[in-house]
Amino acid sequence: MSAWAANACVQQLQDQPDSVLGLATGGTPLGFYRALVDRYKQGLVSFADAVTFNLDEYVGLDPDNPASYRYYMEQHFFRHVDLLPEHCHLPNGKAADLVAECEGYETAIASHGGIDLQILGIGVNGHIGFNEPGTAFSSKTHIATLAESTRRQNARYFPTPDDVPTEAITMGIDTIMQAKKIILLAFGEHKKPALEHLKSGRISEDFPATILRKHADVTVVYGK
Ligand code: GLP
Repeated sequence: MSAWAANACVQQLQDQPDSVLGLATGGTPLGFYRALVDRYKQGLVSFADAVTFNLDEYVGLDPDNPASYRYYMEQHFFRHVDLLPEHCHLPNGKAADLVAECEGYETAIASHGGIDLQILGIGVNGHIGFNEPGTAFSSKTHIATLAESTRRQNARYFPTPDDVPTEAITMGIDTIMQAKKIILLAFGEHKKPALEHLKSGRISEDFPATILRKHADVTVVYGK
């Protein structure tokens, strides 16, 4: 699963070295990043001209907080490859003006011509990025309140469950839908019901991932 997705990403960069990649965090894409770093070390791919935008970041965490998504990306991907630091974008969850941060993020994506390939995970409640059930399909990058179930799921990355932030900045559903290609990764039995719902449930804001059925180029990659 991870190798397939990494190969698709390598292909994307071979076809278009200055691609804009949309990146995800969480447990699911760890193998994908490992496979991508391997391919970089084998000389199969360069990221020197690529630009990245991550889906989301917690509000209130410093970039050097090990639970922040910036830290995750540095540890698992950025520092292992030849991406230029100024080409690696995540929302700043410590921005003094969070609304301006969201608007600026959206503008930055647009100024690079939009996302060519977006990597996505999926939450068991159907969230993509941090777009929880009930998020408008028309949403752009915004401040999201995390569902309690999401906070519980992500508590394993924090010293105590109370340390999980209550808010995050996330690309919106519409931001994600503007990506030219999407690869959604899902891993493990516990994600199967969410994938079933994505495939055949009613397209509804109550289960955000269902909107992906309206996208022209989505690949869902499932691994046990
Ligand atoms: C997190 C992230 C999502 C991710 C999802 C699944 O809260 N914000 O982008 O896709 O939940 O995480 P995991 O891959 O750890 O199951």
